[in-house]
Amino acid sequence: ADGLNTRAVAAGKEYFGSATDNGELTDTAYVTGLSNTADFGQITPGNAMKWDTIEPSRGTFSYTKGDAIVALAQKNGQKVRCHTLVWYSQLPSWVKTGGFDNATLISILKNHITEEVTHFKGQCLHWDVANEALNEDGTYRSNVFYDTIGPAYLPIAFATAALADPDAKLYYNDYNIESAGAKSTAAQNIVKLVQSYGAKIDGVGMQAHFIVGSTPSQAAQTTNINAFVALGVEVAITELDIRTTTPATAAAVTQQAKDYAATVGACKAVAKCVGFTIWDYTDKYSWIPSVFSGQGAALPWDADLVKKAEVYDAILNAW
Ligand code: XIL
Repeated sequence: ADGLNTRAVAAGKEYFGSATDNGELTDTAYVTGLSNTADFGQITPGNAMKWDTIEPSRGTFSYTKGDAIVALAQKNGQKVRCHTLVWYSQLPSWVKTGGFDNATLISILKNHITEEVTHFKGQCLHWDVANEALNEDGTYRSNVFYDTIGPAYLPIAFATAALADPDAKLYYNDYNIESAGAKSTAAQNIVKLVQSYGAKIDGVGMQAHFIVGSTPSQAAQTTNINAFVALGVEVAITELDIRTTTPATAAAVTQQAKDYAATVGACKAVAKCVGFTIWDYTDKYSWIPSVFSGQGAALPWDADLVKKAEVYDAILNAW
């Protein structure tokens, strides 16, 4: 059947997908939509594989939520982007404020990655090994890993993940790296850093949490994707949503449809842009209103699980 994933695959991409979360999986109408592989060939767990869920206390691993999402994807025949191993947020306080020295924190980091990647071995098309390591000006974001280990925490993380699952594609993932600028350059430098250590990095994820009307142009996004590809890595659009002031005006929805099409067009234009994920598919479960007050209506399906025809069709026809 025709749909977002069908069109993306016809354009040579590996998938069009959506994020989801465990609390949503009891909503049967929602799950029916998510499981429609004409639209979604891939799922990303929105929270289930983050450190605070997986290893809430040192050495205690909890995979129930991650397993539930992988099981749904496998039942549907969908790929999984596993998200995320090393991030400053949703990181339990035992790691964040544990006061560990360099050698101890390296061993905690390696143990976490080895345990989690081994658990999901063979089930993850991609792993977001490191998430949001950068500030807006391109400097490294201060976090317990950077502050204790230095930038080498990144190649250490990638090398450790590669050992545990040699077949998963290993990604660096961040936001505001979707067009040229200091942060995109810094993300390219992370690729080079990991490569310079002889560690494997396969891809860069552009989160693409955009705002209606101030989204980078298709040409700017295409040029930027090509700059990453030139380093020998692939690219995926990993968390696209395009928010606006709520309630959305008709004009905003029209602009939003164009903005979605621009990112699809950029990914379509570059063979090594391999996949495309929206950060859930319905406004019913979008993270936006809880974080950006007064903003929302960011996804192609409304809060009643009804397709916004203008936005959906713009995505469909941009492939
Ligand atoms: C968000 C989830 O969607 C929310 O449910 C959670 O409360 C906070 O995290 N960048 C990322 C994602 O890489 O992990 C974030 O997901 C959204 C921003």
